[in-house]
Amino acid sequence: MELKNDLLLRAARGEKTERTPVWLMRQAGRILPEYRAVRNSLRDFIELVKTPERAAEVTIQPVDILGVDAAIIFSDILVIPEAMGCLYEMQEKKGPYFPKTVATEQDLNTLKVADAESDLGYVLEAIRITKKELNGRVPLIGFAGAPFTIFCYMVEGSGSKTFSKARKMLYTQPELAHQLLQMITDSTIAYLQAQVKAGADLLQVFDSWAGILGPEQYREFSLSYIRQICEALDGQVPLTVFAKGAWFALKEMSALPCQTIGLDWHMDPEECRKWVGTDKTLQGNMDPCVLYGNAKEVAGATRRMLEQFGPHRHIANLGHGVYPDTDPEMVKVFIETVKEYSSKMR
Ligand code: CP3
Repeated sequence: MELKNDLLLRAARGEKTERTPVWLMRQAGRILPEYRAVRNSLRDFIELVKTPERAAEVTIQPVDILGVDAAIIFSDILVIPEAMGCLYEMQEKKGPYFPKTVATEQDLNTLKVADAESDLGYVLEAIRITKKELNGRVPLIGFAGAPFTIFCYMVEGSGSKTFSKARKMLYTQPELAHQLLQMITDSTIAYLQAQVKAGADLLQVFDSWAGILGPEQYREFSLSYIRQICEALDGQVPLTVFAKGAWFALKEMSALPCQTIGLDWHMDPEECRKWVGTDKTLQGNMDPCVLYGNAKEVAGATRRMLEQFGPHRHIANLGHGVYPDTDPEMVKVFIETVKEYSSKMR
């Protein structure tokens, strides 16, 4: 199926584009009343993720309602621990909770490397349905969590400000940590390859908790596994690595075989361009809190962001996922400003 709008893919590959493509991390779900309506018609979040027709429906909502240049498949990074045998619950207003965590070798022995087709077939089916229903309008982004971020949840058992239980294991049981990270990596590689086979046009790896490690530990416990993923997928579809808070690792990340690096709002786009060089596309990075301002402020901040990145090798996005209480009208101002202003920058 020929894509009618392939701006995202061309920008990722470093080709010149008529304007800058734009989408938002966490655009599916969270902010749209139309999402809430679908979600409330089902038992809970996990049931929605596992019902491919409905997951496809909420994946496409932001394309119809907001006018973004890409869809991202509605799922969660936590489907990987579940597929490995570490089940999660999604607690209303609190977030994920794992009744069983990994603390010992025995715990590890109860887990397996996930099989993409049999354990995660519902995501693959959602991708196939979404591709069909999108009918080539925009590319579909597939995704997974980076092994270290998944490790954080499997060891900690829930979200945390410090993830000190997870980080403790890096010091007290580094071998166990590496074994778990390798199992997550093997599961993730097979899963992402299956997503490409099902129709994903671009992949993003979310290392949401990268910023809690120092440079040495980041290299050993995160980057080395992200590299395995990039190498295994090299040459298939464009790949984006978003490591939140890992400004200290940008130079090393620029050596990964991936096409795009995502930036959060702590990072200055012009400085990052110097560290990364000209071979990669940059994605980001407006502070999601800007969207709490009025239309004039949102448009102004969006134009400043576009100026900082320049017209080429940029995919416009926020510096992290859009916050749940954001007014969709301000998201539209962000998107419309990118479209208009970046067309004039050429
Ligand atoms: O972009 C999209 O909206 C696609 C779907 C998507 C979800 N989660 C749906 C979701 C994506 C890409 C994710 C990724 C994800 N999930 C990350 C990485 C990105 C990031 O934000 O750093 C992380 C760390 C998670 C884990 C997770 N899932 C948490 C901490 C929570 C609770 C907080 C929250 O986001 O609401 C979730 C739940 C979740 N995942 C929801 C959605 C729409 C909310 C569940 C609901 O509808 O009640």
